[in-house]
Amino acid sequence: MEHTQKRPQQQVKQRHSTKTIKSTKTTISSAQSHSASSKGSQPSKKQSILQGILLSIVFFFLSSYLVTDTWFWGYNGKYLNWHRWIPRKQIVFTQNELAQYDGSDPTKKIFLAVKGEVFDVTAGGPYYSKGGGYGFFSGKDASRAYTTGCFQTHLTHDLRGLTANQLADVDGWATFYRDHPKYFKVGTVILDPIDPNSPIPEDCNKPVAPKPASK
Ligand code: HEM
Repeated sequence: MEHTQKRPQQQVKQRHSTKTIKSTKTTISSAQSHSASSKGSQPSKKQSILQGILLSIVFFFLSSYLVTDTWFWGYNGKYLNWHRWIPRKQIVFTQNELAQYDGSDPTKKIFLAVKGEVFDVTAGGPYYSKGGGYGFFSGKDASRAYTTGCFQTHLTHDLRGLTANQLADVDGWATFYRDHPKYFKVGTVILDPIDPNSPIPEDCNKPVAPKPASK
């Protein structure tokens, strides 16, 4: 009996240690609940930054739409052309192959070339389809006519005799198609070499701009 009875000092020690365990448990559980609340209700620094970015993006688009009626503050340039962001295998056309895409068949795409670069201008159907205001450019490389405006006699890639300014004009049109928000480059065309002994196409003098067809 004497052996089983605990001495008072021992009892105090035990009581004290039970108390310590209890208080430790309380501390742990309070710490756990604190960390849970900080995870749950209070966003971390990372979350706040992310929320800030998302809100700014939404604000950017909404305010643009409200102010300019467009989603990008009126920007409608080359970077909005999704074709630009998709790498595509470039096609090498012969002139005959290119001619298949002259806009006369509404089920086919419309291609044209400037200085050997071939562009898909299907999105400009009203201009480039058969009967469209600039339909004569389709299915071929008519670089010369882009600067001379001789839309009957200069539908050729023969650039002989053009001035530096005129050549820059032609380059400008290639850039126009390359950087257009809807047109895009699909490849190149192998052009017949120009016979150096053939006569340089005569200037028509009177460029008459055809009316682009209404959409
Ligand atoms: C060298 C002479 C010219 C060339 C090579 C040329 C070429 C072109 C081309 C390729 C387009 C289609 C643009 C597209 O795909 O979006 C176009 C559009 C147009 N062109 Fe010409 N053009 C010439 C002269 C003229 C002249 C002299 C006028 C006016 C009298 C004119 C009036 C127009 C108009 C109003 C459009 C439609 C523009 C639009 O709706 O965005 N062009 N031109």
